[in-house]
Amino acid sequence: MKSYYKVLSSSMFSLILLSSGISGVQAAEQTQSQVNGSVVAIDNSGVQTGAAQEQTPILVDQASIPAVIQAMTLDEKVDLIGGAGAAVTGAAGGTFAIPRLGIPKLTFADGPAGLRFGSTANKSTTGFPIPSALSASFNKELMYQVSSAMGKETLDYGVDVILGPALNIHRDPRGGRNFEYYSEDPLLSGEMAAEFTKGVQDQGVGVSMKHYAANNQETNRQSVNEVISERALREIYLAGFERVVKEANPWTVMSSYNSINGPFSAHNSWLLNDVLRSDWGFNGMVMTDWGGSKQNGIAMLNGGNDLSMPSLNAVGKAAVKAAILDGTLQEEKLDTAIENILNLVVKSPTFKKLSTVDDAKQSVSADLAATNAKLSREAAPEGMVLLKNENKALPFSGTVKKVGIVGNSYTMPSCGFGTPASACTTDNAASKMFLMGTGSAYVTPTHTVQLPEGLKNGGYIPVNTNASGAKINENLTAEDAAYMAQNSDIGVIVIARGSGEGADGNSTTFEPSENESELIKKVSDAYHAVNKKVVVVLNVGAPFNTVSWRDSVDSILLSWQPGMEAGNALTDVLSGKANPSGKLPATFPVKLADSPSYANFPSSDGNPNLVNYKEDIYVGYRYYSTFNVKPAYEFGYGLSYTTFDYSDFKLNKDNLSNKIKVQFKVTNSGSLAGKEAPQLYVSAPDGKLEKPAIELKAFGKTRELKPGQKETFNFFIDPKDIASFDESTSSWIVEKGTYQFKIGASSSDIRGTLNFKVDKDIIAEVVNDNGPDVQLETLSKYNQ
Ligand code: BGC
Repeated sequence: MKSYYKVLSSSMFSLILLSSGISGVQAAEQTQSQVNGSVVAIDNSGVQTGAAQEQTPILVDQASIPAVIQAMTLDEKVDLIGGAGAAVTGAAGGTFAIPRLGIPKLTFADGPAGLRFGSTANKSTTGFPIPSALSASFNKELMYQVSSAMGKETLDYGVDVILGPALNIHRDPRGGRNFEYYSEDPLLSGEMAAEFTKGVQDQGVGVSMKHYAANNQETNRQSVNEVISERALREIYLAGFERVVKEANPWTVMSSYNSINGPFSAHNSWLLNDVLRSDWGFNGMVMTDWGGSKQNGIAMLNGGNDLSMPSLNAVGKAAVKAAILDGTLQEEKLDTAIENILNLVVKSPTFKKLSTVDDAKQSVSADLAATNAKLSREAAPEGMVLLKNENKALPFSGTVKKVGIVGNSYTMPSCGFGTPASACTTDNAASKMFLMGTGSAYVTPTHTVQLPEGLKNGGYIPVNTNASGAKINENLTAEDAAYMAQNSDIGVIVIARGSGEGADGNSTTFEPSENESELIKKVSDAYHAVNKKVVVVLNVGAPFNTVSWRDSVDSILLSWQPGMEAGNALTDVLSGKANPSGKLPATFPVKLADSPSYANFPSSDGNPNLVNYKEDIYVGYRYYSTFNVKPAYEFGYGLSYTTFDYSDFKLNKDNLSNKIKVQFKVTNSGSLAGKEAPQLYVSAPDGKLEKPAIELKAFGKTRELKPGQKETFNFFIDPKDIASFDESTSSWIVEKGTYQFKIGASSSDIRGTLNFKVDKDIIAEVVNDNGPDVQLETLSKYNQ
């Protein structure tokens, strides 16, 4: 029989009473009623302390939680809803321990790009490619492998919850944390984040899905009010989170700093209670972002947010206590939060003794370090996007031995916080790329490989000096460029931009500087003059303008920030050892002003704390495709060293009532092995609701196909997948009419179209009807 009570000697008990501040009489009475309660059993074996024995409930499993809550003092409860520092130095935070009740401290550490400890903590982990690069792989299996590796490292360090996945939408190319998020599309974001969640949680540690919701900008993130229609919220900004909750059951959710239609996310009962818990069935714990409760514990509990991180200050605690005592805050709300926190505790590796903390540990265990470094190297090429490849400039031909490398000397405008200065600047970007983003998504890597070293490891000779032997950088002269062109077989220019939490981008992060444009021109002219080719590597975390210079170079490879093995991974791709197979998870516009959010980012109406989401549901490619605005490179775009044919498009029926199967084949029609990421879009007819021209409804990735090999895809689509949100009935509806499935290699490169019908309107799901009343003039096909 399980023991929910630990029997204590009377002397131990009085010590606990002193520290807990309750009288012996109260405690004895409390204990008596607990003993009489139906959920408890008493194990008093082996205790020989005479008559004065008392029992204190101890947290042993989920069933013991009610008794433990009942035994908690008000002070203990109020302590538990505020974080209390981490058990591992350098981790972002942790929970409060109450040893007398068997409640241990849990530790939470960032983050979405790998396990992070503060830069002074001297603890290294594997630096993986940034999340945008992983989503560009369109490879869910890969995402699962990478996040499993992160989960193992989390466990290895004795951390209970990793603060990721981060899946806010790339609303605007200037979003400072786009690199940390997955995509402008909620399906791709949600699917990748669900894999992240499964991969981590399968290791026995938890995730914190963040930042719920709409943390799509860094400017005034703590104070900005975002005005967003319920339809845009449900279809775009919440949809990815919904998918993760339903597919992967995350242990925790982190509410965002910003407010949505009035209340801050951490105080927003509609967002947390009605949508997250009631509509979607989330049964885990919600924590704030760091400082996101604004120290208002009452609003937080009323809003359905359980834990204030990294703490709730004394004033905040006193206010909660006073409100409970004077009856203005129901104690059940506090108890619900405690229950959610304790439910997390009993699942945690610390509680289950699956891990231990050795705070002197400075690196992940050797076997994990080696396996995960290899995985980081293999993952990067899958997300690299080949934007241009004229005359087969890539992969390097067999005659390439010496590689001329040069880059800008870009300094990040803001490096985010908590990031070592060494990660914030570049000298010559070709010899010092950005390997990761900064801020809470920066990890201290176990080692790094920059491009020159990677090239040498691959058997090449990097050339980056001028005639007098001095290292060149973006200020190189035409003579320097000519010298490089003479003395190497191909030119590689690295254009870099850092990305980090705490600041948004702007036109200088999107546009090449004059120096960079000059650099590209001088190097291209010099190499082309001697009949040699030029490749630009874009070492960026978000869209960059390619239009003004793309015609002067032969190839453009978007490497993103490829992780700590960058130099090796990039050499694998340049040399052809790996075939890049990434596709764009966000549109690359011709100019910033083309973005649908341009006029309302990062503020509206001259009010720094207001953003009107006027573009509504027309985010990213939904806008470009519907309003016929041609981007530089469209969503889903990406070339390969080989080519793929799509064929045998089939539906199992021509009418959608419940589920419909879409089948097709992808064949490697080129001469090199490679992987392809096919995409399925739907075009829905306008009815009561207007619809974007296309919306992504499924995607996949082939295994590595050798020339001539093929793979068959079966995608199953049900009504909810293609439903639109109708605010007037608070339901997801599929309107009757003729629909099209468009199967393509990108959102514009459609290879096959299949029609199907919906004979009568379908209500796919009804949700809570107390959504926000939003007064906003939004973009519509009909008001152009
Ligand atoms: C970030 C979160 C992060 C937290 C803890 C905050 O500034 O917004 O993403 O998890 O810090 O480091």
